[in-house]
Amino acid sequence: MDLGLKGRVAVVTAASQGLGRAVATAFAAEGARLAISSRSEAAVGELARKLEREYGAEVLAMACDLRDAAAIERFFRAAGERYGRIDALFTNAGGPQPGGFDELSDADWQAAFELNLLSVVRSLRAARPWLEKSDAPAVVNDVSTSVKQPIEGLTLSNVLRAGVVTLTKSLSLEWAPRIRVNAIAPGRIATERVAQLDRDRAVRLGSTPEAVAAEHIRNIPLGRYGQPEELARVAVFLASPAASYVNGQFVFVDGGLVHAL
Ligand SMILES: NC(=O)c1ccc[n+]([C@@H]2O[C@H](COP(=O)([O-])OP(=O)(O)OC[C@H]3O[C@@H](n4cnc5c(N)ncnc54)[C@H](OP(=O)(O)O)[C@@H]3O)[C@@H](O)[C@H]2O)c1
Repeated sequence: MDLGLKGRVAVVTAASQGLGRAVATAFAAEGARLAISSRSEAAVGELARKLEREYGAEVLAMACDLRDAAAIERFFRAAGERYGRIDALFTNAGGPQPGGFDELSDADWQAAFELNLLSVVRSLRAARPWLEKSDAPAVVNDVSTSVKQPIEGLTLSNVLRAGVVTLTKSLSLEWAPRIRVNAIAPGRIATERVAQLDRDRAVRLGSTPEAVAAEHIRNIPLGRYGQPEELARVAVFLASPAASYVNGQFVFVDGGLVHAL
């Protein structure tokens, strides 16, 4: 299937590693032109050179701390001015601090709100005028399976992702029929974030990261963690013209982890 992404303009935030990096790479492999960012200009610069070398992709790489409203504005303005439009946007950020309700302070809640919900609001607002210049614009917001089934010990993620899916559904109505807006929900995809969560839980339980991973895997029907590329292929499809009639959906890429209908 041709996803129709050749020459189209894709923007990926938090792209230096993990899911964002895999999504940026998948866009480049499909022939898209890219704007990528993370807090580290060196890290996204390194990815840009790799994508240029391996796929001949044109890539704008910039530092953008998603907790900083002005930095978000700057990044989207630079992407829009460079390419004249944005066709596909993958919103993504670092994960919030782990912990249960009793461990979290107001400052923790505020920080997670800014990183995981307000950053999406600001990114979408800054991208909107450039998305409007595309003939088939689409947004994919990265959330989590916690929107369907809260994850023990990740209270901030559980609450804030729910805000992002509600925003996704709201915009799929408000911005229709011009801009499609969907969300993607990773289950347990093998990235540094998940490895860190497994290490943290192992410390809490006096266990090992391997034992913690094995406990998670027992609940995953496909019997393993996912790979970032497996998430990226679905995200890029949703953001592509090939998904032209998909709007307001939350697609789970979780190996069947969530058992709810
Ligand atoms: N992996 C999974 O299975 C999974 C499941 C559910 C939800 N998620 C969520 O999906 C998101 C990505 O997860 P991941 O596994 O790819 O995490 P990761 O491997 O830890 O990567 C996080 C990315 O976010 C960037 N980042 C962190 N703080 C940032 C900030 N303030 N501004 C801009 N960029 C920032 C990091 O780059 P720099 O350090 O260069 O800034 C890095 O590129 C997270 O929100 C995570 O909670 C992941």
